[in-house]
Amino acid sequence: MLNLVLFGPPGSGKGTQASNIITKYSLVHISTGDILRHEVKNETPLGQEAKKFMDGGLLVPDEVVIGMLGTKIDESIAEGARGFIFDGFPRTVAQAEALDKLLTFKETEINKVLALEVDDEELVTRILKRGETSSRSDDQDESIIRKRIVEYNNKTAPVAAYYDNQGKYTALAGVGTIDQIFQSLCMEIDKLA
Ligand code: AP5
Ligand code: MG
Repeated sequence: MLNLVLFGPPGSGKGTQASNIITKYSLVHISTGDILRHEVKNETPLGQEAKKFMDGGLLVPDEVVIGMLGTKIDESIAEGARGFIFDGFPRTVAQAEALDKLLTFKETEINKVLALEVDDEELVTRILKRGETSSRSDDQDESIIRKRIVEYNNKTAPVAAYYDNQGKYTALAGVGTIDQIFQSLCMEIDKLA
């Protein structure tokens, strides 16, 4: 299997690039943000719990996020998935450890973590622009967007060192055209084949 983590702050382009990568490499896209928004939209108990955190730009508790992923990974492997691209997960060291355990149990592992580097002002500009048309409640208000970036720096940035210690972490420029960034991601992915 080929299992990748697409890593980076809010608005760095993880979702945009993941959708191109899954087409080219036939991987299953797992975006915890998309799964959580689906739960919120359907007003499930999990969604109602998650909404409180998401609206405030805070991370949803680890046990909620980790719990909802196990079944999804199991089902995809049973259906013959060639691999996964994780987008917006893991976002804490505890999540990274849980993912390692889950994949080891399935006799596979994370092959590479590709991080998109974008400066904070560009992140805020991109997300505010998307907020003009998206229905995401966390895209509307600059102070919530900045809270998401602070939350990233405090809780998610340490995940980079976790994977760097395993020799799996590569950072790339996340500023440029979507196609330029896609090409540089593909160059890294092709090295794994
Ligand atoms: P999530 O949905 O994961 O959002 P995020 O990480 O905050 O970031 P975005 O999805 O906004 O950005 P992105 O990096 O995907 O960039 P995109 O491609 O969209 O999480 C939302 C919330 O859910 C969290 O705050 C948390 O509450 C909760 N959550 C989710 N996962 C969790 C977890 N594991 N643990 C705990 N809580 C969790 O691009 C952004 C914009 O920029 C788009 O408009 C795009 O068109 C544009 N753009 C993309 N590339 C470029 C480029 N090269 N140049 C110019 N514009 C570009
Ligand atoms: Mg996203």
